[in-house]
Amino acid sequence: MVIEQDADRARLVTEMLDTLGFRVESDVALLTGRSGRVPRAAYLGARIPQDELERYLDAMERVSAGLPLLVAADAPWLDRLSSDHRHDCHAVDYPLDRVQLSELLERLRSAPARGRADGPRCVGSSQAMRNLHGLIERVARHDSSVLVLGESGTGKELVARSLHDQSPRRRKPFVALNCGAIPAELLESELFGHEKGAFTGAVAMRKGRFELAEGGTLFLDEIGDMSMPMQVKLLRVLQERSYERVGSNRTQRCDVRIIAATHRNLEQAIADGRFREDLYYRLSVFPLDVPPLRERSEDLPELIEEFSLRFEQRGLGRTRFSDSARAALTAYAWPGNVRELGNLVERMTILYAGGSVRAGDLPPRYRSAALDIDACAAAKSPGVSRTEASMLLSEEGIDLKEHLATIETALIQQALGRSGGVVAQAAKLLHLQRTTLVEKLRKYGLHAAVAEV
Ligand SMILES: Nc1ncnc2c1ncn2[C@@H]1O[C@H](COP(=O)(O)OP(=O)(O)OP(=O)(O)O)[C@@H](O)[C@H]1O
Ligand SMILES: [Mg+2]
Repeated sequence: MVIEQDADRARLVTEMLDTLGFRVESDVALLTGRSGRVPRAAYLGARIPQDELERYLDAMERVSAGLPLLVAADAPWLDRLSSDHRHDCHAVDYPLDRVQLSELLERLRSAPARGRADGPRCVGSSQAMRNLHGLIERVARHDSSVLVLGESGTGKELVARSLHDQSPRRRKPFVALNCGAIPAELLESELFGHEKGAFTGAVAMRKGRFELAEGGTLFLDEIGDMSMPMQVKLLRVLQERSYERVGSNRTQRCDVRIIAATHRNLEQAIADGRFREDLYYRLSVFPLDVPPLRERSEDLPELIEEFSLRFEQRGLGRTRFSDSARAALTAYAWPGNVRELGNLVERMTILYAGGSVRAGDLPPRYRSAALDIDACAAAKSPGVSRTEASMLLSEEGIDLKEHLATIETALIQQALGRSGGVVAQAAKLLHLQRTTLVEKLRKYGLHAAVAEV
């Protein structure tokens, strides 16, 4: 990102970076972080009004702490920025020296990312995600407890992390604990720590997560799975900001921000007597809803790109998803949300690294939605029937056997749906012998879906 008020200087810097192969942005809106894109470095020219400079520095700090700053060597604030440890500051001569600039950028490129640029990014520019990012940004700077709600795999943990990363506590620890994964009898010592000899097996004093998170943020995942007795203890910490290690009667004070998350319906849990209402109100001072992926399919391309990048960085190579594959994925309902998408991209990357994934290459469950797309296309272009639509040969050609199998599976599933899973009736709908249908069910692994064979 190039920030420079002087138009001529800005143009020269931009052109030079461009010839060095970098993509240059000058739209400071990137610094709101809402676009989900974050610059890898910022160039600060010598002609920026002081108050604007402060605003930019603040924004960068929020959006990407530790972002490398290339500062014009004749800028009046170079010394101040260089001596401030919060900034990763590098002087750049003006007039520009191509060799100096290119060497510096090469060094930065190969240096390990600093600050939070190294964690996974939370992307998505659908309206729903932009709203969410806006809320995160606003609540981050306060110490209020936050309750992150959303279906499984929607990105609750990532939301908790970006909240911490944008909060004044970002230089302190972010400690996560999955309350559902730890046996109830161990959870207390996990949270609060224990003294040596507090119970059998406690051979040494151990710090709890509250202590490890001191000054920072404690993320309590799957809070809905916490036992009632533990809920009481947690409530007390939230109210009094103090606790005792297991086996100790010395009270410890703590300064920890709590972010809790659950995929459960806590109001229902309260009605069922499984969750304390008072704890619920304490935790949900600020509730954040992470929308399911099916309600924001506009985010799919960005998410696919983000996952492809992550897998590429892990050395898995890279794949491209063809338009037909993207269309099929857009029509799919994503019960496992973003996590499911990540798993799919990983699987496709392993199978098709270096190549392109077509709709026909997707596992069957993602493909049957593609048939519905054909149906939609047919509905949109009158005169083309559904059958004809699924018979159009796309530009990239088609795997005929796979395609026919997809059509066959989809029709069989519909027939089974209509017959309530009764094979004999489904066979009648398909004008097949019952035994033939049974064979096909085996072949496609659909026998689990039937009521009787
Ligand atoms: N907006 C997003 N941008 C990029 N990656 C995302 C986004 N949302 C989720 N992910 C990725 O999807 C995966 C699942 O996210 P996360 O673990 O945060 O979900 P969760 O809601 O906590 O899931 P669960 O309910 O299963 O615990 C992670 O790999 C995460 O990095
Ligand atoms: Mg989670």
